[in-house]
Amino acid sequence: MEINVGIITISDRASGGQYEDLGGPAVKAAAEKRGWDVLAETIVPDDKARIQETIRSFSGQGCGLILTTGGTGVADRDVTPEAIRAIMRVEIPGFGEVMRAESIKLTPNAILSRSLAAIVDSSLVIALPGKPSGAVECLGFVAGAVPHSVALAQRKPTSC
Ligand code: MTE
Repeated sequence: MEINVGIITISDRASGGQYEDLGGPAVKAAAEKRGWDVLAETIVPDDKARIQETIRSFSGQGCGLILTTGGTGVADRDVTPEAIRAIMRVEIPGFGEVMRAESIKLTPNAILSRSLAAIVDSSLVIALPGKPSGAVECLGFVAGAVPHSVALAQRKPTSC
């Protein structure tokens, strides 16, 4: 199944040019390795409205899968889960459960990530942690469920 991807790096410092965005390129490489087509990429600050308008715009452009990286923790500016939950149709809790359960085997700090997946408009949105290696690891833990979830988000016929 063809999977069109939008990637959003969510970081005040990367969007302000204070440091280089390493998370977006790492997630892009991981998506392309799976044969997915990356249609759109951007960097936004930790700002709910900016996150929401970017997700909706990418969904409207045909990205069946939207991967965000950053803002899932518990720092004052971390608002990614709240931004997504305010616009989602449904959350898919299994994604967050698996990402944390597997990540905690690698680092105890993974318990701090409020990573999640949800259906927004006609896209599957997966919110990955900000650390590039953590984002790639988390995507790997749930990638097997992505094609079927994207098909459902896009209301395409599926085999089950
Ligand atoms: N998950 C994996 N697989 N590997 C990691 O290194 N880092 C954690 C966690 N999840 C990590 C991980 C850390 S240190 C934090 S603070 C949280 O993700 C939240 O990160 P974020 O606020 O940048 O999204």
